Amino acid sequence: EKGGFPHFMLKEIFEQPECLTNCMRGRVNVDTDNVVLSAVIDYKKQLLDANRFIIVACGTSWHAGLIGKQMIEQLCRIPVEVEYASEFRYRNPVITSKDVVIAISQSGETADTLAAIQLAKEHGAFIYGICNAIGSSIPRATDTGSYIHVGPEIGVASTKAFTGQVTVLTMLALALAKEKGTISTENYMHVVKELHEIPNKIKTVLQLNDRIADLSRTFTYARNFLYLGRGFSYPVALEGALKLKEISYIHAEGYPAAEMKHGPIALIDSDMPVVVIATHNAMYEKVLSNIQEVKARKGKVIAIVSHDDNTISKIADEVIELPDTIECLEPLLTTIPLQLLAYHVAVCKGLDVDQPRNLAKSVTVE
Ligand code: F6R
Repeated sequence: EKGGFPHFMLKEIFEQPECLTNCMRGRVNVDTDNVVLSAVIDYKKQLLDANRFIIVACGTSWHAGLIGKQMIEQLCRIPVEVEYASEFRYRNPVITSKDVVIAISQSGETADTLAAIQLAKEHGAFIYGICNAIGSSIPRATDTGSYIHVGPEIGVASTKAFTGQVTVLTMLALALAKEKGTISTENYMHVVKELHEIPNKIKTVLQLNDRIADLSRTFTYARNFLYLGRGFSYPVALEGALKLKEISYIHAEGYPAAEMKHGPIALIDSDMPVVVIATHNAMYEKVLSNIQEVKARKGKVIAIVSHDDNTISKIADEVIELPDTIECLEPLLTTIPLQLLAYHVAVCKGLDVDQPRNLAKSVTVE
């Protein structure tokens, strides 16, 4: 049942090219340059008339929401707020019938997310679900939605559900942007083509598995890890840190790279591994200078870079080179090595990767 893999988690990491192909099947059509989500066709008016979107979720699904926010704001010019479902539901939040609430949940059973939906419904908001488990409680409580179609996720640490959620949010942003006229035909076609290429590029990233397994051995000693990224890579940093915490029991924190100097830099010494997402995009130079600041304090830098990077490879302790893609799709590639890093560090420490202590696959109590 693990398909020859030692753990469900590794199997599910390796399934991602196939899962994302399934997620996009019948929805992303490169020949006609089109993205079709039935929910956007059926509920076009509710979605386009919204004053704002409010994304509610927990854990990894909340991280996917942070990426969705950037995508929807950039492509559709609709304001998006991202809320922890557990905070939102108890805050007496401002919700009106002009709001669209997007609830993201792999299991479709998370108690806080379900309660946030009920609250938003009482205030007349339109509810859109992004879920994996077919027929679970959350899809049944929503007005419409899109399944991520990545198949059952067994490993407690979420992997393929995260990339599936980001893929659905990307398709949603593209479909809405086209309807709203906020994206040029040229840019739309470019993103659609690149999105279609992502499963193949993930296959290339997965070839780094042995290399990441090797370097993971070096870091099992660590008590703390820092993960840094900016823009679309900031939520990826949070997600990388969460994966490491969950399964390796190493304390890890994700930070927007520029915030480092406002506090966390005090932690950096020669024992501190710092994972930096430093791909070739608009933020590259800024992130490069953060890496120099870490190295000046003798921190150990593990850098996730673009394939043609000759600069960071000279200063970082370890570099992981990824294929290029457009900036808004980078999370679908940069997340993969961080999943593998967390997995291998935990395996090197002899831990039960599929059943980490104190964690359950779905959190049905608040
Ligand atoms: C992380 C993880 C959890 C879940 C969170 C939400 O690997 O699995 O943080 O993401 O409990 O679960 P769902 O998406 O089922 O609502």
